[in-house]
Amino acid sequence: MTVRHFLTLLDFSPAELISVLDRADQLKQLQRDNALHESLKNKVLGMIFEKSSTRTRVSFEAGMSQLGGSAIFLSPRDTQLGRGEPIEDSARVLSGMLDAVMIRTFGHEIIQQFAKYSKVPVINALTDEFHPCQLLADMQTFREFRGSIQGKTVTWVGDGNNMCHSYINAARQFDFELNIAAPEGYAPDTELVQQNKQRVNLIPDPQRAVKGADLVVTDVWASMGQEGESDQRLSAFDGFQITPELMDHANSDALFMHCLPAHRGEEVSASMMDDSRAVVWEEAENRLHAQKALLEALLLN
Ligand code: CP
Ligand code: NVA
Repeated sequence: MTVRHFLTLLDFSPAELISVLDRADQLKQLQRDNALHESLKNKVLGMIFEKSSTRTRVSFEAGMSQLGGSAIFLSPRDTQLGRGEPIEDSARVLSGMLDAVMIRTFGHEIIQQFAKYSKVPVINALTDEFHPCQLLADMQTFREFRGSIQGKTVTWVGDGNNMCHSYINAARQFDFELNIAAPEGYAPDTELVQQNKQRVNLIPDPQRAVKGADLVVTDVWASMGQEGESDQRLSAFDGFQITPELMDHANSDALFMHCLPAHRGEEVSASMMDDSRAVVWEEAENRLHAQKALLEALLLN
């Protein structure tokens, strides 16, 4: 049997993604009810973090333990990965001991290479190109507040980064329209946009881009690994901040999401973070429920 991985949203069919979200809602309710649910008893998840994390680490680690399993945090600083042991060797060895591996790294090809040699499911916990786990939580959150996202309009304002790329994949898998407002030189991957051109619209002016939006999303202007470009990016993204005033140009019941961490005063104003249209804390919590559902889908089926 071939092993299933979750490297991008395209690894699951639209129907499979919907059933992960359905399961995430059920697991959230079980958690609320304090019900013991040990579907992954004795299973062990390895978590390789080559970049920092708060939400991803805690949601995967807490999720595994709530499901009766456990997780091991692996940092390149303290493992042979950081001393140059080849990815394929690490994949063979770790997947002989673990039930699944979660990786946060730089180039997407690193995780693809790991998956190629892994005997167990590999989960993308963020690469420079994609962040699919965050999209599971975002989609679960939208459904909770507004029902199905199918046929709705989402507007991305900011950098054409890993989150933006995963929104492009989500537009395809969950069937919504995506407007992207990015400054010149910071647009998402041309090929990915081209492949999804029937539902992705590049509209550089944020005010025009949010018109008709049911959901407005942003992310930091300098991602992990781009710290050296921070000053240059600060000026390039001038005018791309999400504020309550910008949100007023979207639909009256539009929601605001941000994967966090947020930089108040840069991509989002402090007032927007406290605005009633912001659902960022619910979105963050749903990382836990959505990933527990993902782990069950990969490990039990
Ligand atoms: N949104 C997100 O992935 O957060 P962390 O970097 O804290 O994991
Ligand atoms: N685009 C951000 C997301 C952080 C969760 C980064 O890659 O740093």
